[in-house]
Amino acid sequence: MSTPDLVHELELGAQAPLTIVAVPVAAPASLGASAAAPARMRPSFLLWDLPLRVFHWSLVACVTAAVATGELGGAWMPWHGRAGLAIVGLLVFRIVWGVVGPPTARFAGFAPTPRRVLDTLRGRWRGIGHNPLGALAVFALLGLLALQAGTGLFGNDDIAFAGPLNRFVDEALGARLTGWHRIAADGLFVLLALHLGAIAFHVLVKRHVLVRPMVTGRAILEPGVVPPASRARVRGALALSVGAAAVAVGAVASAGRAPAAASAAAPPAAPAAKEAPATPAW
Ligand code: HEM
Ligand code: HEM
Repeated sequence: MSTPDLVHELELGAQAPLTIVAVPVAAPASLGASAAAPARMRPSFLLWDLPLRVFHWSLVACVTAAVATGELGGAWMPWHGRAGLAIVGLLVFRIVWGVVGPPTARFAGFAPTPRRVLDTLRGRWRGIGHNPLGALAVFALLGLLALQAGTGLFGNDDIAFAGPLNRFVDEALGARLTGWHRIAADGLFVLLALHLGAIAFHVLVKRHVLVRPMVTGRAILEPGVVPPASRARVRGALALSVGAAAVAVGAVASAGRAPAAASAAAPPAAPAAKEAPATPAW
């Protein structure tokens, strides 16, 4: 997508430049009329903004790479570290975007309060974006990925690879965090199976169109549902989110590089605090 297309999508027909408004493209005369119309005649609206979709599919690619290289181990570990570091950046982006991004991306908008979860279980929830049960899964996935990436940064494989922050913890703590990293990976497989299973259920059994909006961004407005009309300053929010992600990745990577001055100043005979496995150039 070209830059003008991106800006156009982000502007979404708003009067003020660089704002996002989740309004139907062809506004219905009234919601009553829209409710009566068949799905193909109902208006579509921007459900998932472009940065959120880029985040999602980049996360899919990086998690797939991290799982594959983690399981292969050995010579694949430097690539595992790089995929893991990219995931750190993606998570930081998502956290900031979840606060400053457009309405359907905001955590506050889909926080699964007990009332909303109960409404969903009773079939009474109406809204757009993640439903409250889906939101529980989203928070669990993001939380577990953060734990996974966080423990990986301090871990090592006892052979030739160590996370960039491994040198800041002693051997016992490093081993314990590596153990948690392995356990968290099993939890992640369970959550991913639930994620894909839930999507397959909604698509195949309930005939909900879920995947297309995660690709194109657009969804058909359900009868009686009003999209949020709030405006977010997209360009500033995007710069903040991407900037925070870049700073986090840069900080972790540079913390992983041994300070040259300190190693040069170390007395040659001094025993190393611990045998640090070789790391890739972070
Ligand atoms: C490694 C694999 C995957 C991971 C880690 C993952 C993670 C996530 C996360 C974190 C979200 C929440 C989005 C947000 O608001 O931030 C999400 C939503 C979603 N994902 Fe995935 N995903 C994966 C694979 C897939 C695949 C393969 C598909 C499609 C077949 C898919 C379809 C979706 C859809 C449709 C949603 C929106 C659900 C809704 O409408 O509430 N995901 N995913
Ligand atoms: C969310 C991101 C990550 C995922 C999904 C992931 C996944 C995995 C998996 C599946 C394994 C194999 C576990 C096993 O053998 O049972 C593994 C091992 C490992 N990962 Fe990650 N990882 C992630 C992030 C990271 C990061 C950021 C680092 C460090 C830069 C890292 C460092 C390690 C190390 C050192 C091992 C070897 C542990 C051992 O020898 O058992 N991981 N990871």
